[in-house]
Amino acid sequence: MTTVSKNEYYTKTVTDYTHEGMGVIKIDHYPIFVPDALVGEEVEVKVIKANRKFGFGKLVNVITPSENRVEPPCPYYYQCGGCQIQTMNYTEQQAFKKATMDKSINRMAKLDKPVNDTVGMEVPMYYRNKSQIPVKFNDGKVEMGFYKPRSHDIVDIHHCLIQKEIHNDLMVFIKELLNDEEVSVYDEAKHEGLLRHVIIRSNNDDSEVQITFVTNGRKNVFGGINKAITEQFPMVTSIVQNVNTEKTNVIFGNRTNILHGGEYITDTLLGKKFRIKARSFYQVNHEQTEKLYKEALEAADLKGNETIIDTYCGIGTIGLCASDQAEKIIGIEVVDSAVEDAKENAELNGVENAEYHLGKSEEVMKKLVRQGVKPDVVFVDPPRKGCHPEFLEALVEVKPQKIIYVSCNPSTLQRDLKYLNEQGYGISPVTPVDMFPQTNHVESVTALELAK
Ligand SMILES: C[S@@+](CC[C@H](N)C(=O)[O-])C[C@H]1O[C@@H](n2cnc3c(N)ncnc32)[C@H](O)[C@@H]1O
Repeated sequence: MTTVSKNEYYTKTVTDYTHEGMGVIKIDHYPIFVPDALVGEEVEVKVIKANRKFGFGKLVNVITPSENRVEPPCPYYYQCGGCQIQTMNYTEQQAFKKATMDKSINRMAKLDKPVNDTVGMEVPMYYRNKSQIPVKFNDGKVEMGFYKPRSHDIVDIHHCLIQKEIHNDLMVFIKELLNDEEVSVYDEAKHEGLLRHVIIRSNNDDSEVQITFVTNGRKNVFGGINKAITEQFPMVTSIVQNVNTEKTNVIFGNRTNILHGGEYITDTLLGKKFRIKARSFYQVNHEQTEKLYKEALEAADLKGNETIIDTYCGIGTIGLCASDQAEKIIGIEVVDSAVEDAKENAELNGVENAEYHLGKSEEVMKKLVRQGVKPDVVFVDPPRKGCHPEFLEALVEVKPQKIIYVSCNPSTLQRDLKYLNEQGYGISPVTPVDMFPQTNHVESVTALELAK
């Protein structure tokens, strides 16, 4: 039973980070999690919540600041839920991500493996190539920005430090147009009004930009707005309207209509071209995606005669980047439009040795096992919940020599690595790659090899 209570004050030294990047202080053995407190700092904390096993505190005073503490560069940082670790300089952010990975692999899974240094960005800002911006009408004007933490209240933002500059310019421009044109804006509580989200997506050199208006209904009121956007921003080569009439937190609905230009924009990754449609998954940080894929390809060490499975393949990016160095690529993906995109992307790049299977990895993999497919290397890049146990069982049944695991969640990664290790796979040092600077998200690549 803890003796710590709400509204009490404590002065302690921060000893660790949570996986969300909060500082941890301990009162006897009772941990209190404190946003924006850095390891090594002596801090004064007010307890704002005391659960049975842990509490949350508010940073009241930093008595001895860490040399890695910085003033958050973004003026919205303390209101906006988009970034979580802007009081750390970039060296500390990278160290935090490495330590988070180390805790997962070694403290939780007890795999006893070294973790490499985090592969960082040159300039860890202005990287997001996709911005999903909620729209709200408040106090007689349109607000666009990002949600406050754990809320659907919008922080009205004019400049975001982690989205690309062209997105900031377009966000401000569109907000003014929406005010002038008096477009009806969606009210979440009443489930009334038209415009819900504006999504901006751009390719690496900003030569192609796509805008998506997500609307509660099919009404198209965007003629004047589209004309103004494309006159001012000729790089906007695609404007689409996605209809979502559901009462839901899911952003996209099923129907998408083209309002201007084409249905997709095209980007280049490691010399290969990719068509990206409004709803397709595509990594949000171009510079770091190339580094992540290079790490994955180097770990695979392909000789040219391998059969590769690229599962959870999205629009086919990893496999197609490997296609010059392999005999055959087999892609697996559950979203039908992504499979269509992957096929088109193979054709666009003149790749003839790739085939794609629509379905869940756990089901398709079992089918491939029954068909006697013998992959040499399998790339896995699952969503946050990690690999399905039946997929892992089928995977170890075909015994690929190498598995390259790209992960966006250290917690499910450690669970899956532990299983694969028990099934005879040796694990190389994990490499964190910083795909989301200023935020607490940790991405990584790990190579596994079947023990001889
Ligand atoms: C993290 S993304 C990776 C996509 C791609 N490898 C890339 O780098 O762009 C995960 C992908 O897995 C797909 N997915 C989710 N669950 C799946 C399942 N059970 N079977 C197959 N694919 C799945 C998602 O649709 C998404 O495209």
